[in-house]
Amino acid sequence: MSETPSVAHLTPLAVELLREPPGRRSRAILEERWVLYPRAKHALGALNRLVAHPRTTRMPSIAIYGDSGMGKTMLMERFCADHPACFDPEAGVERTPVLALQMAGKPGERRLYVQLLAALGLPPPSSRASVVDLEQSALRVLRAIGVQVLVIDEVHNILAGSHREQRVVLNTLRYLSNELRLSLVCFGVAEAREAIGGDVQLARRFDEISLRRWSADAEFEALVASILRNLPLREPSLLSARSLRRLLQVADGLTARVFRALNELAVEAIASGREQITDEAVERWTPLGDAEAAFA
Ligand SMILES: Nc1ncnc2c1ncn2[C@@H]1O[C@H](COP(=O)(O)OP(=O)(O)OP(=O)(O)O)[C@@H](O)[C@H]1O
Ligand SMILES: [Mg+2]
Repeated sequence: MSETPSVAHLTPLAVELLREPPGRRSRAILEERWVLYPRAKHALGALNRLVAHPRTTRMPSIAIYGDSGMGKTMLMERFCADHPACFDPEAGVERTPVLALQMAGKPGERRLYVQLLAALGLPPPSSRASVVDLEQSALRVLRAIGVQVLVIDEVHNILAGSHREQRVVLNTLRYLSNELRLSLVCFGVAEAREAIGGDVQLARRFDEISLRRWSADAEFEALVASILRNLPLREPSLLSARSLRRLLQVADGLTARVFRALNELAVEAIASGREQITDEAVERWTPLGDAEAAFA
């Protein structure tokens, strides 16, 4: 009787990938497939509650803060993908419950409305259109497609504006939330708290989730376990406490670097035919192509 290898250490998607030739498996690993880990699940749970929240006069909002590379944009994209536009048969219209945009460049009321219109898929407005025109079109479309949650990434960019510009943008966000009864979700680095804090009334509506750098605890172990379950290797990778500490150290506590280390180790494990990440490989691993380290 031929022995079938156990795949109990993998997610169904990773098991499927095991059928692919080594080259394709390695490619799949480097493609940034979404991995659900407990901390992300907790954050997504909080965000999903916003979508389910009835429309009230004071909509709850969430701010998610974390250093660069902590996985904010990945979370945002996942949240949007979980709530795609869909046809509402009762109303006979297409609904977009979650709309996302990035706060880029110098902030301003006009720019914010132009970005909103772009996120809504509308053609760029004429440069002669007044701010009031832009506001009216944005409100009309946001209302028509039933946006419930407006997500803004890189919200710390508000701070690039003058004090007056910052106030205007925050006012606009508060106005949109009130007028359309929608929740706001803001992602940004720690300075974003200061940005939102510029409008006390707005800041009061925000619950905060902090994506702190990882430390040597059960939450970090759970992150590593989740990543390992998603890596299509034939053998389970059982890492010692020492390896976990080393991983944490080379990653400097950043989600992006933990993913990168484990992904690169997995590609190496496929190339060598070892088909598992070993303590020894973790010990040897250094972030070779790390631009930051190279220029430090
Ligand atoms: N849930 C996840 N699944 C898979 N890969 C992830 C996940 N979260 C983070 N990563 C990895 O970490 C990298 C950085 O994540 P992301 O771009 O979301 O960070 P960020 O917090 O938005 O950083 P910045 O503030 O610089 O924009 C991703 O490109 C991806 O490689
Ligand atoms: Mg980002």
